[in-house]
Amino acid sequence: MQNFENFLLQNLPTSKSIHPTYEKALQEMLIAGGKRFRPALLLGVVRSYNPLLEEGAMHAAYAIEMLHTYSLIHDDLPAMDNSPLRRGNPTLHIAFDEVTAILVGDALNTYSFEFLSDAPFSDYTKVKLIKELAANGGLNGMVLGQAIDCYFENKPLKIEDIKVLHTNKTAKLIAASLKMGAVIVGREELGEKLYDFGIKLGLLFQIQDDILDVTQSSEEAGKLTNNDEEKNSFVTILGLEEAMREANALAEELTSELNSFDENLQDELSPLLTQYINRHRT
Ligand code: IPE
Ligand code: IPE
Ligand code: MG
Ligand code: MG
Ligand code: MG
Repeated sequence: MQNFENFLLQNLPTSKSIHPTYEKALQEMLIAGGKRFRPALLLGVVRSYNPLLEEGAMHAAYAIEMLHTYSLIHDDLPAMDNSPLRRGNPTLHIAFDEVTAILVGDALNTYSFEFLSDAPFSDYTKVKLIKELAANGGLNGMVLGQAIDCYFENKPLKIEDIKVLHTNKTAKLIAASLKMGAVIVGREELGEKLYDFGIKLGLLFQIQDDILDVTQSSEEAGKLTNNDEEKNSFVTILGLEEAMREANALAEELTSELNSFDENLQDELSPLLTQYINRHRT
């Protein structure tokens, strides 16, 4: 992922103005860097079918990472999860102020689409990519999940509804990352298959995140942990043991589905996916 990190550093959002800290705040959480899981998924799909398109695909990978980073900045706001730490750094509302955190989130959200519209692909492909990112990261995707997550604090939900919450909050953007890779290499059918796989992978990713919330220290996680007590997290509702069982079952299902992928895709994605699929066991 070194290429992606270089691309990101060369394409940081800039804004020269009389504002003394706006540009620094825009860049800070992107540079701080997370796992870059969503870009890695998209680039892995592209690399396995058409490595020549990988350079252009950086635009799409970076657009997803910007939208995801905006979602984290807003997620940490006092009105949402009220967290002082993200990616090992003070959150923007702590380092700067709440107004800055809200507006940087807004800016990264819209800039992700502006940036994607400049990708070196046909207009047809770009519209498809923009639609996937908007549909999964927006009103009936991540934003809906966040709305349900915050509204139902201290109001326990049924497990089916918790799955709906986490599918929207987390899984759709992860599924979109895989599907956008398939869009770039022009394989629509593969895109549908990868999307369904990605929804399960994203659900597992969130169960693991909920498990790590109670098993990792804030220092290890680089973000505030033990912060889900009021939430409909898998651990809060099911307990740690049952959440682990749920994660193990999904991990097994995903491992066997991975074996049905084209060989080139398996070769490319297996190392990454095996690591993430088993993340809760480490
Ligand atoms: C955190 O996402 C929020 C969830 C959807 C669980 P990541 O765990 O991918 O966060 P970063 O990008 O590595 O910081
Ligand atoms: C947030 O889920 C998912 C987003 C859409 C940002 P969490 O609230 O569990 O994420 P963390 O644990 O703060 O990273
Ligand atoms: Mg949250
Ligand atoms: Mg949070
Ligand atoms: Mg969490």
